[in-house]
Amino acid sequence: MGAFKVTRVQTSPIDGQKPGTSGLRKKDLRAVLVEGMVLHIVKLIIVKVFVQPHYLQNFVQSTFNALGADKMKVHAENSSGATLVVSGDGRYYSKDAIQIIIKMAAANGVRRIWVGQNGLLSTPAVSAVVRERVGADGSKANGAFILTASHNPGGPNEYIIESVSMSSGYACFLATPCIKDFGIKYNMENGGPAPEGVTDKIYSNTTTIKEYLIAEGLPDVDISKIGLSNFTGPDGQFDVDVFDSASDYVKLMKSIFDFQSIKKLLSSPKFTFCYDALHGVAGAYAKRIFVEELGAKESSLLNCVPKEDFGGGHPDPNLTYAKELVARMGLSKTDNNPDPPEFGAAADGDADRNMVLGKRLSYFDFRFFVTPSDSVAIIAANAVQAIPYFSGGLKGVARSMPTSAALDVVAKHLNLKFFEVPTGWKFFGNLMDDGQCSVCGEESFGTGSDHIREKDGIWAVLAWLAIIAYKNKDNLEGDKLVTVEDTVRQHWSTYGRHYYTRYDYENVDAGGAKELMAYLVKLQSNLTEVNNIIKGIRPDVSNVVNADEFEYKDPVDGSISKHQGIRYLFEDGSRLVFRLSGTGSEGATIRLYIEQYEKDPNKIGRDSQDALAPLVEVALKLSKMQEYTGRSAPTVIT
Ligand code: G6P
Ligand code: ZN
Repeated sequence: MGAFKVTRVQTSPIDGQKPGTSGLRKKDLRAVLVEGMVLHIVKLIIVKVFVQPHYLQNFVQSTFNALGADKMKVHAENSSGATLVVSGDGRYYSKDAIQIIIKMAAANGVRRIWVGQNGLLSTPAVSAVVRERVGADGSKANGAFILTASHNPGGPNEYIIESVSMSSGYACFLATPCIKDFGIKYNMENGGPAPEGVTDKIYSNTTTIKEYLIAEGLPDVDISKIGLSNFTGPDGQFDVDVFDSASDYVKLMKSIFDFQSIKKLLSSPKFTFCYDALHGVAGAYAKRIFVEELGAKESSLLNCVPKEDFGGGHPDPNLTYAKELVARMGLSKTDNNPDPPEFGAAADGDADRNMVLGKRLSYFDFRFFVTPSDSVAIIAANAVQAIPYFSGGLKGVARSMPTSAALDVVAKHLNLKFFEVPTGWKFFGNLMDDGQCSVCGEESFGTGSDHIREKDGIWAVLAWLAIIAYKNKDNLEGDKLVTVEDTVRQHWSTYGRHYYTRYDYENVDAGGAKELMAYLVKLQSNLTEVNNIIKGIRPDVSNVVNADEFEYKDPVDGSISKHQGIRYLFEDGSRLVFRLSGTGSEGATIRLYIEQYEKDPNKIGRDSQDALAPLVEVALKLSKMQEYTGRSAPTVIT
């Protein structure tokens, strides 16, 4: 039982600590290249953002200050003291950050810290732990620091060194940093991300901070071993409880789904499965759930060992970055895989995102991609039958504004309460806390329900497996299983299809991006001009009947969120949406969302890029995308 004392460390504000959509995210290092005029000498200034003195500490202390000392203190009357969860996706620097946060929490009077073994907890598991876990002494968590930059890469500093010869005869070395990210966010007692009121307070505290508190004499805690360590400080006892990262989450999943029916599906010789964790934290859950609980073969798991640098990859589950999964699902010669799985799925670094793929036996296209917008609609349409947790009915459904209207159609058919919210999971949380929403999803590969207050990558895969199991419940011995593709096509023939695509322009010049957005807003004031421009580009595209910037009034707390994306709404129900990403950590990322509704069952089978080509052309020309960004093509198309 070690004793520690509290040290107050002088500090001063550090610029740029404003949390974005999902907390504070930064490049681990930022390089500024300054080219000398004469000799073209490239000077490299490196700033290691998170590891620079006091950077993390300032943010953490600002969070404690925002929450209020009374919340953190042991000696709040009749209180057994505050309990905080600290863990994350295991990316580079997490282990150091956890030790710092433990020491700062101790000094700030927190009573106990819960850490997932090796510092690993997926974002959804953190939410589950905050909501469900009860400590040996009956304690419950008050909140959590989640250490992740989600789907952004991680790892130590790296450079690509190129030698460049100059016309003057000099040669110089150009070091381009291969930049890796780190991030931190705070979640509240309901297991969901801190609301804007709190993140604004945190930010404002970072601009005035003068000191932070840290425990001196508190040793580093061995977070690789499960167990409880006790210490004593000026406020009394302080505990660090290292626990199994998966068990609370696995228990919750077992209470939601019928594991027996999924197990039957997974053990059918006709059903093959593949899960790619992209070396993120999902790997810590995949083996336990898919292999140990549900009987999938160990060879079904790809990249399921969590790594500090995600194996050098980009842990974002889309068709571009989930390369191995996409190849495994492939049928082409280059993919060298004659027997692709029936079902494939992937997660991002912190396991809150998901991508679902099915087998496709077509000459042209080798895998069937379920758009996240369709995914939430299909889950909502089948939830009551296929998932025991929802057997009593859905309270309501919700999607983010840029997500396609596939869910709207389901809500209408099933007479469900429906909400359209701004991008960001926190908006769903309010509806869920108020008992108004059961299932929700976003085009950005996030799907989830009110079982927690974060989106949930593994839950989404289990939901899909549950639906496929349900569709095949009397069919497992039959000739052919109902596949992922069959399920989606059945859905389209009942509800119509929302052709949908997203174009991302990553890391574009922030000034250019802003100008493009300003131009699009200005254009909205004159729809006649807009329609004239469109007719000049593609006379076959319908008229814009409405254009605005999305604004949301939260029905629960009445708060208003403005400037949530620029919309152009067409007469035939098509939509163009332009938004600046709130999660990037470098430059600006422009997202363009393109959608078109097709009700005619004879026209729902087209390739989506073909079907959307006219609207894409209109979007790119109307927005002068190339002019403002200098890019002739997007970085990623999904
Ligand atoms: C995070 C949030 C999501 C949100 C997404 C948007 O993942 O948790 O709720 O949809 O960011 O990202 P963007 O880069 O489009 O702002
Ligand atoms: Zn994530």
